[in-house]
Amino acid sequence: MCGIVGYIGREKASDILIEGLHRLEYRGYDSAGIAVPAGDGALEVIRREGKVEELERACAARELPATMGIGHTRWATHGRPSETNAHPHIDCEGKIAIVHNGIIENYVQLRDELKAEGHTFRSETDTEIVAHLLEKYYDGDLVAAMAKTVTRLEGAYGIAAIHVDHPDQIVVTRKDSPIVVGYAAEQQASLLASDIVAVMNYTRDVIFLEDGQIAKLTREGITCYDGNLAPIEPALTHVDWDAESAERGGYPDFMLKEIFEQPRAVRDTIAGAVKNGRVLLDELDLDDDDIEAIDSVCIIGCGTSYHAGLVARELIERWARIPVSVEVASEFRYRDPIVGSNTLVIAISQSGETADTLAAVRIARAKGAQVFAVTNCVGSRITRESDGVLYVRANMEISVAATKSFLAQIACLMLIAMFLGQKKGRLTTRQVNSLYYDLRETPSQIEDILQDTAEIEKAAKLIAKAHSVMYVGRGIGSTICYEGALKLKEISYLHAEAYPAGELKHGPIALLDETVPVVAVVTDSPTRMQTLSNVQEILARKSHVVAVATEGDEEAARIADCVLYVPPCKDWCSAITASVPLQLLARYVALERGCDVDHPRNLAKSVTVE
Ligand code: AGP
Repeated sequence: MCGIVGYIGREKASDILIEGLHRLEYRGYDSAGIAVPAGDGALEVIRREGKVEELERACAARELPATMGIGHTRWATHGRPSETNAHPHIDCEGKIAIVHNGIIENYVQLRDELKAEGHTFRSETDTEIVAHLLEKYYDGDLVAAMAKTVTRLEGAYGIAAIHVDHPDQIVVTRKDSPIVVGYAAEQQASLLASDIVAVMNYTRDVIFLEDGQIAKLTREGITCYDGNLAPIEPALTHVDWDAESAERGGYPDFMLKEIFEQPRAVRDTIAGAVKNGRVLLDELDLDDDDIEAIDSVCIIGCGTSYHAGLVARELIERWARIPVSVEVASEFRYRDPIVGSNTLVIAISQSGETADTLAAVRIARAKGAQVFAVTNCVGSRITRESDGVLYVRANMEISVAATKSFLAQIACLMLIAMFLGQKKGRLTTRQVNSLYYDLRETPSQIEDILQDTAEIEKAAKLIAKAHSVMYVGRGIGSTICYEGALKLKEISYLHAEAYPAGELKHGPIALLDETVPVVAVVTDSPTRMQTLSNVQEILARKSHVVAVATEGDEEAARIADCVLYVPPCKDWCSAITASVPLQLLARYVALERGCDVDHPRNLAKSVTVE
């Protein structure tokens, strides 16, 4: 979503801010801007609608010697995308500039109050009220003004502010919106960002600010305060993601790079999880009595994370015989769900910052459920709001379309399903060993699939011409169809629907004709024959068929226009393997249609507002 950067040091700030904004581009945005002291007692605020390149060009055309400043990429919530609505926003006198992520829910009331007091507003944003509140409360101390300002705000915010009279400090705070700060001692510089990616070139030892904390960044270091302005010393977190991980590393786009990183992501996620037939998930801090008491599992998530939950349902029910519900977090949070102390809630979120999932976590915990988060992001909000955390080891994911995090989530959830199966006495150590053996085969199976993508590219040409695409499968196959269809929609802007294959004849088959191709997952499974019968029904409607099938499946080759083969594996492992050709298919279709794979329109990597 929106991105914040800030720098105070010895170098030219505008260059470092622009570099930081480039690193945040993957989050999705519609405009960008920076504010730096102009040197004549005023602030220089430069904003542009569109890409950071536009802003970069505008900055290059000006003298900007300042060594401190703040920057922002905006994704419109209140007020349309425009230069006027882009951040930073300033107060009436142009002495204070602020950038903000999140939503100020009571902004209308505050704006009316401030207008009545004589403040002049220039934008349609909720954000601008923060600049005017700071102006109202400023009495020579920017930190104190920030402390007063936030007492007036309702909603979510990460806010960074500068004042022309304090070129030696940046003040930053947060609530329900991530902010990370770090000091680069060698460069005598302090940095802040809404995302570690924008600071990690300068420092790996960072502070993830907590809600209500305020930090003052100077060239000498960082001072943190609680909401009452008492100094505090938050823990430093060392982040060991390598810088390479934030760059494309030779691939034409991040999505492809991340697809190729999937063998490693799965390997890292499952490494050492089973020893001597025992699933070792210490993070699932549940004693035998807790496990005994669990009578249901509820999984919550959004988008791709929700789809990972669908896979988990199949396996937890299969191996642990515990009933599982899977809920879209945005629905769960508003429908008085039936969860309690005997429900194990698993909240899945790649970013750990998704607003709906966080709200669902709070509701589940308020109802007495134990909530365990499955996330990819260390220090993210969900890790602090849950009873326990299982990290997936996908490493930083830049592309808006989730790929490696999805496979790593599935692998992690498979371990949870094994763990519960074992603890519930349904899986023996021998069975666990055998399942783990199969799971450990999947990374090399993914590598096999990635070796030859020619048939996938051929299938993409067929699909790219369509106006609508249907995805069908059964069991595990149907769960990954939902994800395959989502991938296609989000990056190629092509309409796609996923259905359990048996549902076709109950309605959607009416859509089929030679213009609507169908992607059918017919990998080895107990219901493969039934799915193949459904494919015959599809062929009778003249639809073209792209089949995802197990190597050696000649029947699939006979009936389908294209067959995307995956190595033989257990049906549950095909959740991992068969997802790979679906991801690649979506990417090649997007390229065929001339789409920007890594920056799909209207989408953001992390959806931190409702
Ligand atoms: C995935 O390709 C999408 N970009 C989106 O559906 C995403 O999975 C969803 O917004 C949830 O995000 P999270 O996993 O970070 O909570």
